[in-house]
Amino acid sequence: MSSGIGNFTRRMMTMPPVETTKTPTYNPGLEGVLAGESALCQVDEGEAGLRYRGYAITDLADKSTFEEVAYLLLFGRLPARKELEEFSTQLTANWTLPGPVESFVGVVPPKVHPMDILRTGASLLGMTDPDSADNSHEANLRKSVRLLAQVPLMITTSYRFANAKRHLLPRKDLTFTENLLYLLTDRHGDRATEAMARVLDVSLILYAEHEFNASTFAARVTASTMTDLHSAITAAVGTLKGPLHGGANEAVAAMFLEIQTPDRAEEWVKNALAAKQRVMGFGHRVLKQGDARSAIVQRQAQELSGICSNPRWYEIATIIDRVMHQEKGLYPNLDFYTAVAYLLMGIPRQLYTPLFVCSRMAGWCAHVIEQQDHNRLISPRARYTGPPPRAYVPIDRRT
Ligand code: CMC
Repeated sequence: MSSGIGNFTRRMMTMPPVETTKTPTYNPGLEGVLAGESALCQVDEGEAGLRYRGYAITDLADKSTFEEVAYLLLFGRLPARKELEEFSTQLTANWTLPGPVESFVGVVPPKVHPMDILRTGASLLGMTDPDSADNSHEANLRKSVRLLAQVPLMITTSYRFANAKRHLLPRKDLTFTENLLYLLTDRHGDRATEAMARVLDVSLILYAEHEFNASTFAARVTASTMTDLHSAITAAVGTLKGPLHGGANEAVAAMFLEIQTPDRAEEWVKNALAAKQRVMGFGHRVLKQGDARSAIVQRQAQELSGICSNPRWYEIATIIDRVMHQEKGLYPNLDFYTAVAYLLMGIPRQLYTPLFVCSRMAGWCAHVIEQQDHNRLISPRARYTGPPPRAYVPIDRRT
């Protein structure tokens, strides 16, 4: 029976007063907040700029492949040759979509954005995964390897289906990235395509991990409830889609296509800034003095322009880069020159953010595993900005 004074109220009345002087600090957008620990990557203000598990990104971009980097992030160390071969074999073995996912890809209306297909597709992959409900370290690793293989195939299959291109299967003689390029462009083997595959591979290495960015944090918040890995990945895909985050690379390409020729670039940017628009591909929440990854991909894009005998996009990019520095003191982020490289490869721009997903999948999964291996629920506080306490008004006295 209710006594008129509830258990909660009674408890509150007998509790010592709460110390109100210790108000938590408030940082809008969690800017500058250390929200957890991670052994995965270090955003380094020094020469390296960024390290994955201690290795400088410059070394990884120069000497590694995306498959090696994905292994490094998931398993904690660079693979020995035999381990890499086994990992590649596992990826190839999972280059297949479960029946329900293939059916879903087949019924999606052709105009749907590939990121929306991926968001729903990631969730559907969870429903069909044999380890779905198992959050153990080993099961999470198995699910991660499957996702690394299935997601690129979902992107290429849905793209080919929507554009009435003939069905192609991944080839056993091609690497992970060569297959990705082949299934998106129908190209492999010639000199330009080999150069493109290497540049695409470098972009995947650079996109693979970046600490507590928005999508990774979304994945970790989700994983911290000890839900399943696919739920965390679904949240991450939805978060990456936004133009302030992963969607920026598609938006950069849209800008280049609107500008069209180098002689129009300077005026275009100045007009955009005068209209208080954000110029996509510039600025970063953490990297205020420039993004080391951008310098790497800029070199790659410049070389590829030469190989493809198509200097237009790179020239437009360098003009925008100069004007943004002059006018706003802002530096390009990774998305800016990556869009130049992807334009040169002839990849449709709606697939740029999905390519980011293919790569960041390694980082997201490694973070989910790290979170669940040492879990503490992520559940912060909010500063209240609503009305002050007020008396309840019965319904017939409300105006
Ligand atoms: N174009 C024009 N002005 C900009 C831009 C930009 N791209 N970025 C920042 N600013 C200005 C902003 O208007 C503000 O000016 P003011 O102080 O006069 O109001 C100042 O720079 C500081 O900006 P901020 O919004 O406080 O900075 P932030 O740390 O919150 O934003 C950002 C970071 C990435 C959201 C922002 O730089 C931006 O919107 N960039 C364009 C979108 C983009 O390229 N996103 C990819 C980010 S990097 C890869 C990834 O995470 O996916």
